[in-house]
Amino acid sequence: MTATVIDGKQIAEQTRAEAAAGALALSTRTGVIPHLAAVLVGEDPASAVYVRNKQIACEKAGFKSTLHRLPANTGQAELLTLVQALNADADVHGILVQLPLPKGIDTTLILDAILPAKDVDGFHPENVGLMQQGRPRFLPCTPAGVMRMLKVSGIETAGKHAVVIGRSDIVGKPMAALLGQKGADATVTLCHSRTQDIRAFCREADILVAALGIPQFVKGDWIKPGAVVIDVGINRIGDKLVGDVDYLPAAQVASAITPVPGGVGPMTIAMLLANTLQAAINLSGSDAR
Ligand code: GUN
Repeated sequence: MTATVIDGKQIAEQTRAEAAAGALALSTRTGVIPHLAAVLVGEDPASAVYVRNKQIACEKAGFKSTLHRLPANTGQAELLTLVQALNADADVHGILVQLPLPKGIDTTLILDAILPAKDVDGFHPENVGLMQQGRPRFLPCTPAGVMRMLKVSGIETAGKHAVVIGRSDIVGKPMAALLGQKGADATVTLCHSRTQDIRAFCREADILVAALGIPQFVKGDWIKPGAVVIDVGINRIGDKLVGDVDYLPAAQVASAITPVPGGVGPMTIAMLLANTLQAAINLSGSDAR
């Protein structure tokens, strides 16, 4: 079997076009232009690229985007003051603090300080709770992007065994929650660094989501023939980007697979736009799209 390649770039483009159309409709109706404020602390080159790409996507979709760049030695109090100012700024609809933050800053404290109505990453505990209860305000962008890819690709999740590798707050935990929720209806196993014999769990997966951050961790012969493989990993080996799945052997066995790059990555940004538009609609009190 050779897998169908799930084209994240194309699905993301479509999602971004919908966000752009929504932004145009909102501004025509109300004069409100969705505005994402991104905060980047320190000099991490990968984070700088991610934030830049988020800004470019905003601008292409007709959103406003502002970047607040702070040096690596920024104190926690100073960052907190900036978040509070963005919370209070009526012109800002979405706030994104790029992670990871430098050592010495309490990430939880900062994320908890973001106004839940502007938390377009979906990381605030109030939004995590709403998602867990199946009445989401904002879904975390990467898992939401994976759900959209599955839907657009016509991949059935109901009754399927979904195995998620990795239990991060950003991807693994919310991914498992979304796949198991009513409507998605998968039976979910969440594997992590202390799981014994991960390979055995992978072999049982109808849908396998790899989100552990180890290059090419999942081998081709771990994959059940005909399974759907979603690779969330973005790892740099020299000047090459690879996922958490050993792509070529996996693509021989799977029925569908996401490539790296061009798979899940572009979806994260597209869903951020969708969330920022939703935040602008909610905050402007405009309920039509
Ligand atoms: N760092 C890696 N992924 C993300 C993300 O989705 N949001 C933020 N804020 N930081 C990240």
